[in-house]
Amino acid sequence: MQIIHHAKELRTLLDDTRRRGKRIAVVPTMGNLHQGHIRLVETAVARADFVVSTIFVNPMQFGRNEDLDKYPRTPDADIEKLAAAGCDCLFVPPVDDIYPGGLEQHTVVSVPGISERHCGASRPGHFDGVATVVSKLFNIVQPDTAIFGLKDYQQFQVIRKMTADLCFDIDIVGVATERDRHGLALSSRNGYLSDAEKQTALCLYGTLTQTAGRITQGERDFRALERDATQTFLAHGIRPDYFNICQADTLAPATAEDKRLVILTAAFVGATRLIDNIEVPLTE
Ligand code: PAF
Repeated sequence: MQIIHHAKELRTLLDDTRRRGKRIAVVPTMGNLHQGHIRLVETAVARADFVVSTIFVNPMQFGRNEDLDKYPRTPDADIEKLAAAGCDCLFVPPVDDIYPGGLEQHTVVSVPGISERHCGASRPGHFDGVATVVSKLFNIVQPDTAIFGLKDYQQFQVIRKMTADLCFDIDIVGVATERDRHGLALSSRNGYLSDAEKQTALCLYGTLTQTAGRITQGERDFRALERDATQTFLAHGIRPDYFNICQADTLAPATAEDKRLVILTAAFVGATRLIDNIEVPLTE
């Protein structure tokens, strides 16, 4: 696996790769890779001839009070895992290469509407940072395919809309959330949880599956279901940020007419903010 730090060098390599008729996939990450990320790389390997993974802890998507400095960085372990998963090239740019004049005066890509709900309401500017860095990575790599985890469901839909709106000719692929054997969604932030908190955190997926079950069985008072779920979190000592039943593409509040739903949640277990979601396709 080649490790490349600068965009110019990567462009030269990828121009040559394209000339040889190879299809390119990109897997953008912020590092500290777990099995969920490795599934993304495996999906990329299955769909393309040449896989570029990126590791960049993107300052633009962190709020002032968020964990940018303490965000876990594990470069040696990440390199080992990517190489073992069949990644061809790792792009690890320095912050100054991506934001040469700093963040203040940098152009921002903003995806209106969908970015402002759910996590966007709790983390203003977060999805602008995501859309900006991902569009830069798309311009540098010019991939045929880009792979993202559905664990970050809202991020996935923001990126899909950004890709369509900006006419990127890139196939955006979502990969199902990887969970531990108890159902806890794998996340870099799980490393902040104590064993007891990990146990408590299982309530997130438990409540998602229980609510999805009630919808599948015919309940349609979505706002009442959201209130019930919030009460369940509080009863388990979890501080809810939101628990929202939404239309699966727009992420607007679900109505009884919608046929494809997703339930999105974010909640604090101790000091750690976790997110999770479940899709609820309805047949009738
Ligand atoms: O999901 C992530 O790790 C990040 O938000 C992404 C897509 C790599 C952009 O920085």
